[in-house]
Amino acid sequence: MASPTIARTREELAAARGGSSVSFVPTMGALHDGHVQLLKHARPLGETLVASIFVNPTQFAPGEDFEDYPRTFDADLQRCAEAGADIVFAPAVPTMYPAGLVDTVTVDPGPLGTILEGASRPTHFRGVLTVVSKLFGLVRPDVAVFGEKDYQQLTLIRQMSRELALGVDVVGCPTVREADGLAMSSRNRYLTDTERQTAPVLSAALRAGVTAAPEGPEAVLAAAHSVVDDADIDLDYLVLTDPELGTAAPGREARLLVAARVGKPRLLDNIGLTLGGTPR
Ligand code: PAF
Repeated sequence: MASPTIARTREELAAARGGSSVSFVPTMGALHDGHVQLLKHARPLGETLVASIFVNPTQFAPGEDFEDYPRTFDADLQRCAEAGADIVFAPAVPTMYPAGLVDTVTVDPGPLGTILEGASRPTHFRGVLTVVSKLFGLVRPDVAVFGEKDYQQLTLIRQMSRELALGVDVVGCPTVREADGLAMSSRNRYLTDTERQTAPVLSAALRAGVTAAPEGPEAVLAAAHSVVDDADIDLDYLVLTDPELGTAAPGREARLLVAARVGKPRLLDNIGLTLGGTPR
């Protein structure tokens, strides 16, 4: 198993990258099996596979867990090597933000950035899109792979690449789950034992929604609510949308999305489904 080349600066990255076709998996580290899946998915999509590890300060609001976010570089490097990454780009903050963190150029996510996660975390997607656009500029990938677990993030990055003509093919990779259905997330490690036992209620609600899908949109939401409403969680949203996060319609593909605090950690999950009923 070859060790990936570690690049910390723009120049080191350019030298390591050369002129090959590149597939790219951006991460904030604390890699788990879900990230390994992203890397394996990306491996055959380019000649050179680049993973980035950068805990992006601008996507955390004051009081969120930026300082406490798990930093596990040595273990992450091992996982990148096992998954076949050629280059690990691990920049310092000034490499990504040479003009500083405030009063600088940012990417406005538009209306889609204000709903769901954006309603609870108003500055989050500006930070995500800004750093991903910079990473695209530095890594210059042909293809970039993101997890479907952060479905709104995936949708916004796809939209950004298309609308800002960044020329990067944005590919989604299915969510990887624990045996009891809990979606893998770097934040799961913050759950207490009791919260960990409660957390699979989110994926159970999504599965209940899928089972009710042939009966139409109202039945999906009723079935999902019947699972979460009495659970010991602080539900933020449970919504049914179309695959682009617009309005869901009978007889069409849809997405059921949930977010909740389970104790302190805020967890997200979502699933695709086909709604019953006659298309309008
Ligand atoms: O999903 C993540 O880990 C981050 O939001 C990303 C896309 C790496 C940007 O910092």
